[in-house]
Amino acid sequence: MAERPPGRLAERPSEELPEQLPEQIPEQIPDSLPEQSPGQGIDVGAAASIAPGKFLTAKVDGLSYIIARVEDRYYAVEDKCSHEDYPLSYGCIKGPYIKCSLHGSWFSLETGAPQEAPADEPIATFRVEVRDGRLLLDPAGAG
Ligand code: FES
Repeated sequence: MAERPPGRLAERPSEELPEQLPEQIPEQIPDSLPEQSPGQGIDVGAAASIAPGKFLTAKVDGLSYIIARVEDRYYAVEDKCSHEDYPLSYGCIKGPYIKCSLHGSWFSLETGAPQEAPADEPIATFRVEVRDGRLLLDPAGAG
């Protein structure tokens, strides 16, 4: 058996990137979630996956929700501005309020109440609780 000269590494084929990278995992929770047990809510993700002052979006039965974290409290609201049905997830949150990025109305994450024009109707709020580190959304329950 022939020996390789000392200090010389075997040639390795260069690692090539595949032409198509795998698709990014969307932040959105898929529509096909586990069945909801009565009184338990729908699991929409890990509580720790939301940093304070941030939110995630989840789709359940065709409706989009925002699950927001303010310090150690979690809020759930429908991802739809009451003014012109624009996605609130395009906006931002500051404290317990969310801003619609289309016309600038702010809404309370706690009550859904608009804080300034042009919106004059509340957004829908829902109960969300943390159990065993998971966020459980109650789509039927007002927050
Ligand atoms: S669509 Fe949100 S304030 Fe107009």
